[in-house]
Formats: sequence, C-alpha cells, structure tokens
Amino acid sequence: MTRKLLVTGGAGFIGSNFVRYIQNVSPETQITNLDLLTYAGSLENLRDLPVPQNHHFVHADIRDQSQVENLLRQNQIDTIVHFAAESHVDRSLQGPSAFIQTNIDGTFLLLEAARKVWLEEKAVDSTIIRFHHISTDEVYGTLAPEDPAFEETTPYAPNSPYAASKASSDHLVRSYNHSFGLPVTISNCSNNYGPYQFPEKLIPLMILNALTGRPLPIYGDGMQIRDWLYVEDHCEAIWTIIEKGRDGESYNIGGENQPPNIEIVKTICQILDEKGLQNRPHEQLITYVQDRPGHDRRYAMNINKIHNELGWQPKHDLAQGLRDTVDWYIENTDWLNAIIKEKDYQQWVQINYQQRGNA
Ligand code: NAD
Ligand code: DAU
Repeated sequence: MTRKLLVTGGAGFIGSNFVRYIQNVSPETQITNLDLLTYAGSLENLRDLPVPQNHHFVHADIRDQSQVENLLRQNQIDTIVHFAAESHVDRSLQGPSAFIQTNIDGTFLLLEAARKVWLEEKAVDSTIIRFHHISTDEVYGTLAPEDPAFEETTPYAPNSPYAASKASSDHLVRSYNHSFGLPVTISNCSNNYGPYQFPEKLIPLMILNALTGRPLPIYGDGMQIRDWLYVEDHCEAIWTIIEKGRDGESYNIGGENQPPNIEIVKTICQILDEKGLQNRPHEQLITYVQDRPGHDRRYAMNINKIHNELGWQPKHDLAQGLRDTVDWYIENTDWLNAIIKEKDYQQWVQINYQQRGNA
C-alpha cells in the first residue's frame, strides 16, 4: 500500500532532502509538504523535484490546527513525518521563545490534529497510520571522553533551550502513544551535513566563508565532538523506521564519524586547497573565537538497535561525504547567493559573531 505523507518542515535542510529521497525511492508516493518558510525554509530547496506532480506544497504553520486537520482529511494523509522546528542551538541561546512555540506548542498541536482526525473521527481510511517524529541526539546531553555512546535508554539531560524543546516534544509524542494509542515512532539523530543546509551550521558556514575569504570561526578550542551523518543516510533511516519500525519505539541514528570540529574544518580547507581556489592555504582563515555558552563537549550515538532490528547502517563515509558537499556548494553558488541574500542572514552573522570578536 502506498502511503500518503504529510511532511512538515519540508522546505528546510533535512525535510527537502527527504522529499527528494522519497521521490527517488517511491515516486508514486503522494507528498503534502507543509512549511511556514521561516528564515530556514526556502522554495529554492525544492526546485527541480523528480516527480513534481506528486508534491503539493502548502505554506502554513504547524500550529494552525484546523488547517492541519483539513489537510489530513482532504488528502487522506496516513503518515505524518514531522521535521518542522527551530533547529539552531546558537539562535536558541539568543532567543528561546520561538523554540518553545514551534518545537513544543507546534508538536502538541500537530499531535492534537492527528488524534482528532485519525483516532476520534476515524476520517482516514487506512491501516498504516503513523506519526513519525524527527528528533536529535542533543536530548541526551553531553558525554565525557570515555563515556559510552548514547543509547535509546540513556536518560534525557538536555542542555540548551533547543535541546530542551526537542526533549519536551519527544515526551509529548511518547505520551500520545501511551495515553491515546496514537501510532508513533521517534528517531534521534546526530549532526547532519550535505546539500541544501542553511549556512548558519558549521559545515556550510565554513565552506561559504572559506570560498569568500572570510574568517573561519572556531568556538572555544575546537575539540568538541559531533557524530556526523550524510543527510541522505538520515533520510533512508527515517523511511526504514516508518516502513519497518515498531509502534511506540524510538531509534538512534548516527554516522559513526566522530572527529573534533577543528579536524572537520581543516579537512574542508584541504579539499578547497586541492581545487586551486583563491585564499590558499585556507587554514590561514581559521580564527578561534569565544565559545558557545554551555557548549556540549561530545556526542556519540550507539546505533545497534536500528542496525540489528531494521538492518539500517550509514552508507556514506565522512571523507567522501565532505568532498561531495564541498562540490555541491561550489556548483550551486546561485542557491547559496539566493539564500544568503534572503531574510536575516547578514543580520544573524552580525549578531552571532560580532559578540565573539569576529564578524
Ligand atoms: P531547518 O532549520 O533547516 O528547517 C526547519 C524547517 O521547518 C524550515 O523549512 C522552516 O521553515 C520550517 N518551520 C519552522 N517553524 C515552522 C512552523 N511553525 N510551521 C511550519 N514549518 C516550520 O532544520 P533541519 O536542520 O532540516 O532539521 C529538521 C529537523 O531535524 C528538526 O526537527 C531538527 O530538530 C531535527 N534534527 C536536525 C539535525 C541536523 O543536524 N540538522 C540533526 C538531528 C535532528
Ligand atoms: O546533534 C544534532 C544537532 O546538530 C541538531 O539537533 C541541530 O539541529 C543541529 O543544528 C546540530 O547542532 P550543533 O550545535 O551540533 O550544530 P552546529 O553546526 O551549530 O555546530 C556544530 C559544532 O561546531 C558545535 O560544536 C559548535 C561548533 N561551531 C559551530 C558554528 C556555527 C563552531 O565552532 N563555529 C561555528 O561558527
């Protein structure tokens, strides 16, 4: 049976990659894509889709419960894939309010819409109803160097307003399964990278700044560790969970790639140097700046559960994934220029980096 998807946040980085992924692996799938087009969402991310006739974009807010309910009924949606969120940790330190409104209130209102239309009205004629919630490894807090990787049973200990808002939304999703019997799955994933990532995040920011000869701002000592995953691997893992995951379960997703930030940045510099581009050697642009307050030191994901139960594991290795990503940004300067001209990008760079002594 072919699913009818409601993708929330499908004009953002991972959501738009997911739409493309689904159109490649399951072209007949009907996708309704609901996105508010905040600073992080753009229709530029959805240009040239493989099967445009099966993608229906709706410019709306996940907090508009009646509009979501209407979409569920009218399009006979049986699967919600919930990406929409405020996603940047640094922004949550500058202004947490939007994170509470979108990530907590928004998820709550989306759950209410699903409960009403699917469980109370039984208005969707399907045996495969599922609410899949996209979450993060940041809900587990931070690891010391020798600590074992996060497991699904690791207690939640979120450290930033972003992580706390995602933890809250995870708990709400879990409770709708436990209390009302809403069919749900949750995935907690580590840091993604790849095409269409907004250049406020480490990897695209470093590529953009290196290409334009601007400083490469390393927070603190640059020895923080993330578990990097190529975005297409994340999309495949989500689809695997939706198709094969057990109701009510959460699954960790990670890349098993854990170099410190400074190594990631130096690798990007080397890739650009090899291309003979100007500003060589790019490492001369590296600038150590004031650290992120409350900066989590290390994340690592134990992915045994999704591997053993569902047979998923990452396909891309970090060295090749970084090369492909650098190539994508070089080949898509029109996309990059359109994004950085849009909305508040320059303003954000000023706010976040000037106070660190580097703008
Ligand atoms: P993003 O910031 O690139 O995109 C978020 C999208 O949500 C944007 O298109 C935005 O317009 C939309 N949106 C925001 N508020 C909305 C609202 N009220 N109603 C409708 N749409 C709204 O985010 P991303 O990096 O693609 O992350 C997607 C999801 O994955 C988030 O839930 C995030 O917490 C999670 N996640 C991200 C990563 C990562 O490394 N980027 C890792 C693990 C989990
Ligand atoms: O771990 C999953 C999370 O990964 C997701 O839930 C978040 O949505 C996503 O934004 C990401 O959070 P991070 O805070 O880890 O990502 P970011 O790209 O902002 O930073 C990655 C690391 O790089 C982090 O240790 C901070 C550091 N950094 C970041 C920026 C933007 C710098 O040193 N300099 C920078 O300019």
